Amino acid sequence: MTYSKILGTGTYLPDNVVTNFDLEKTMDTTNEWIIQRTGIKQRHVARDDETALSMAEAAARQAMDAAGITPNDIGMIIIATTTPQKMFPSTACLLQQRFAIAGCPAFDLNSTACAGFIYGISIADMYIRSGKIKNALVIGSELATRVVDWNDRATCILFGDGAGAFVLGSSDEPGILSTHLHADGTYNDVLFLPVNIGKPLEVEKELFLTMKGNKLFKLAVNILDKLFDETLAANHMKKSDVDWLIPHQANIRIIEAMAKKLELPMDRVAISLDEQANTSSASIPLALDKEIRSGRIKRGDMLMLEGFGGGLAWGSALIKY
Ligand SMILES: CC(C)(COP(=O)(O)OP(=O)(O)OC[C@H]1O[C@@H](n2cnc3c(N)ncnc32)[C@H](O)[C@@H]1OP(=O)(O)O)[C@@H](O)C(=O)NCCC(=O)NCCS
Repeated sequence: MTYSKILGTGTYLPDNVVTNFDLEKTMDTTNEWIIQRTGIKQRHVARDDETALSMAEAAARQAMDAAGITPNDIGMIIIATTTPQKMFPSTACLLQQRFAIAGCPAFDLNSTACAGFIYGISIADMYIRSGKIKNALVIGSELATRVVDWNDRATCILFGDGAGAFVLGSSDEPGILSTHLHADGTYNDVLFLPVNIGKPLEVEKELFLTMKGNKLFKLAVNILDKLFDETLAANHMKKSDVDWLIPHQANIRIIEAMAKKLELPMDRVAISLDEQANTSSASIPLALDKEIRSGRIKRGDMLMLEGFGGGLAWGSALIKY
């Protein structure tokens, strides 16, 4: 049987760091409020010359180094991003050009928001398992800080920039065991970026992320709870079979509720939001790479990945690392 396995991971974070104390100086907020409500202490904020493309390239090169492969070994590029280099062509096509590997499929997942990375690995997994391709690059690259309203203290404190990448490759040994994707457009008004190309653009008014934080919080806890049950049942597994939770990094209180659901202690949960905030579709690979590089996550560990975001869209992946 053919599986897709994580062959390597990589990340990129802008050097520029903005702490909660920095934000205290520019808006009506406090370090204490932000930490208590979210768990976030600081975030990386890209400089003008950093883009979804440049960050994706850096993360992808690191992931390919870790996997011991070169761009010529890549059979598909998927970039999950809500902040692409251009509306089109895709950031993935621009990256393909940089790697000089014309020919392989390359596309962005722009509208799956913070669930985009899980959607990306699910698609790549299908292609690898069917034997159509051998290796895929799946990347989350986000400049979330460019689409928040820095005058809205309820949203701007939550987000950061960065990129994370996986090289997935075919293997005879178990890797990705299953992926589970869902969406419910009923909740399209809970989190959205209102740029509307169906009418003349008013970009300065529309290019801000809009969120009903409280409602989203409750929805997230509810859908993720059911998602874990579904994922474990599909693999005939128990909670105790899961070694690590790799959650989307939106809010420490949501993550704690999910750890409790899986009966996992917090030292078995990959956390990066304290230092990186919510980096949207980059948050899952960023959190996983951190634990792999620290040596805490080891080959053979059973990983539960989950993501949710605008749409609503959400999904999970159960992976033997
Ligand atoms: C955004 C979030 C942290 C807000 O926390 P909350 O406990 O729901 O707080 P509320 O929105 O109810 O606001 C409580 C109060 O804090 C205030 N407040 C909001 N942001 C603040 C800030 N940065 N600093 C200080 N006070 C703030 C509000 O104005 C409100 O004041 P009021 O009671 O006088 O009206 C929380 O709802 C959340 O994380 N939701 C999920 C978001 C998410 O998952 N997003 C990403 C999905 S991909």
